[in-house]
Formats: sequence, C-alpha cells, structure tokens
Amino acid sequence: MDNLDQIVSEARAAFATIADPDALEQVKARFLGKSGQITELLKGLGKLPPEEKKVAGAAINVAKNAVEAALNERREAIRKAALEARLAEEALDVTLPGRAEVRGGLHPVTRTLERIESLFGSIGFDVADGPEIEEDFFNFTAMNTPEDHPARSMHDTFYLQNPDGTVADKVLLRTHTSPIQARYMKAHVERYGQLENMPEIRIIAPGRVYRVDSDATHSPMFHQVEGLWVGEGVSFADLKGVIADFLRSFFESDDLKVRFRPSFFPFTEPSAEIDVAFMGGPLKGRWLEIAGCGMVHPDVLRHAGIDPEKYTGFAFGMGPDRLTMLRYGVNDLRLFFEGDLRFLRQFA
Ligand code: PHE
Repeated sequence: MDNLDQIVSEARAAFATIADPDALEQVKARFLGKSGQITELLKGLGKLPPEEKKVAGAAINVAKNAVEAALNERREAIRKAALEARLAEEALDVTLPGRAEVRGGLHPVTRTLERIESLFGSIGFDVADGPEIEEDFFNFTAMNTPEDHPARSMHDTFYLQNPDGTVADKVLLRTHTSPIQARYMKAHVERYGQLENMPEIRIIAPGRVYRVDSDATHSPMFHQVEGLWVGEGVSFADLKGVIADFLRSFFESDDLKVRFRPSFFPFTEPSAEIDVAFMGGPLKGRWLEIAGCGMVHPDVLRHAGIDPEKYTGFAFGMGPDRLTMLRYGVNDLRLFFEGDLRFLRQFA
C-alpha cells in the first residue's frame, strides 16, 4: 500500500509547516475530514470483496492512526511553543533594581504653618478658615476700617474685575486674614446666641493674603496667621504670654527677646507690633518685626454682636513667611514662591 505511506508522509510534512492552531485544523480536514484522503479510502472499502476488505481496512486504519498521531504531536508542539513565547514575553527580571517612588516634600512655608498650628493647638486653639476672595465688608468695614482709609486704595489692594472690565462692587482679594476674625465671631454668636456664658473663642487662621507689593521682603501674595482669643477677662498680659511662649517654642530657643512696640490698627486698641531679637546666631541683636497685634477693638466685637463690656479679647496677625526666613536663614522671600525645586528640595 504505497499510496497509504505516501499519504502519511504527506500529512506529516504538511503538519510540520504549520504554526497556527486554526490553520492546523484546516489542514487536518484534507486527510481526516468528511472528504479527506483517508476518509475517502475508508468509504471505498465497501466496494472490495470481503477478504481484501479486511486487509485493506486494517492497513488504512494503521495509516489513519499514524496521521492522527502526527496531528496530535503537532498540536502539542504548537501549544508548547505558544506557552513558551508567552513566558518569554512576560518574563520578569526579579534581580533588576526597584523603581523608587518619587516622593514630594512639604513646602517650607507649609511646614511653618503646620508647626504653628500644632503649637497653638497644644494650648487649645482651633484652626479657622475664610475665603481668599473676600467681601469689602469683612475685609474692611467689619474690621473698623473706614471708607477713606488708605488701606482701601487701589494701589494697595487687588480689586476684582467684572467681565466688562469695570471694578467689581465690593469684592477683593483679602489683604489680611483679619476678616476671618469677623466671620468667626459672627458665626460663633449665631451658634451660641447671647448666652450668659458664651464659650471662649480661641482660634488661629492661616492663609494666603494679597497686596500690591513686591521686593526682597514683600511678595504680592504672602501668608498670614491670624490669632484671636475672646473671653471674659482676656488681657494684654495673656497676649504677651501666649506670643512669647509661642516664639520660644517655635524657634526652640529661650535665647531670644520679644518686644511689643506701640502701633496702630483700626481693629485693635491698644495696638502693637511684635519684634523678636536673637541673642546669638547670624541675626544676633537685630530686632525683626514678625506680627501686628492688640486688644480687639470694642467696635469690632460690637459688629459681631459680642458685648464689649462683658468680653474682651486679643488678636494678632503674624507673617509665617518671615518666620520661615528666620528659621531657615533665607534672605529673599521671593525664593519661596518661584517654585524652583533646587531651592525647595533643601527643606524636604
Ligand atoms: N491685619 C493686620 C495686618 O495685616 C495685622 C493684625 C492682626 C494686627 C490682628 C492686629 C491684630 O497688618
């Protein structure tokens, strides 16, 4: 049966050239399909006389088994090759060094703000917040700053524009964090009403403020931390104690002097500037201004609905940017806000 051997080797050769499983099944049909060569031979058996049928049938079956074996062998080879290709493709070199995560760092001023929050938090101050786009009323009027006060000048303050280019009525970028005093006191009174014993107000309010100002020690955007303590019998002595204590903790040094220099703010009376001087280090002996402060003006309390005959309070507004410069020995404020990573990374 030369013909059978030939079919078997033809099948083997045909299978060997194929690498795709679907294509292999198609080629299989040529031999074992409904009208495949082997199938046709089996169909032809019926026409043979019985004794020949037996011999021929056995021979065809041997060939059929051989073709099927070749087919299965090829199927297995294709499956293995596919698996190996996938393994190679997905290979993972566990000896490669890991890809380090790029970690950000906190901005030096943010570190200062967090430090201030935690130091004041430790003596019972909550953190309050207010909008940077502020109403003229809270920024000035509620803070006892009259219509003709120079702080309201276009040269000092960023007013907002309407879409048609005209100046928006009574909306501006806040020039200090003091409006948060007014907002907080108003909300406090709304919450507790005219209670016989109104709970004390003890807050700090950190945030960005804006003024038309730009040089080595002034940026048009800078930070302030407002402080406010209102209650029965709160005095200037409390203010001095809280501030002096804070500065010693903040700079981690008892080796500094704090000075309260008489000053003026419309919303405090009496008012003072707070200066600090270090007894050692590169800034030794120089007085540096770090905050404004004073006793909350009775009119400011009245504006909020708090009885100034019963309650008193102190307030301060300090410059955390200045505190950051002092703490880290940086002499140009603008460096903090230029976003130069070479500078900022030094503090991370
Ligand atoms: N708001 C004042 C300023 O920006 C600082 C200040 C705050 C003074 C609170 C007194 C009390 O200059």
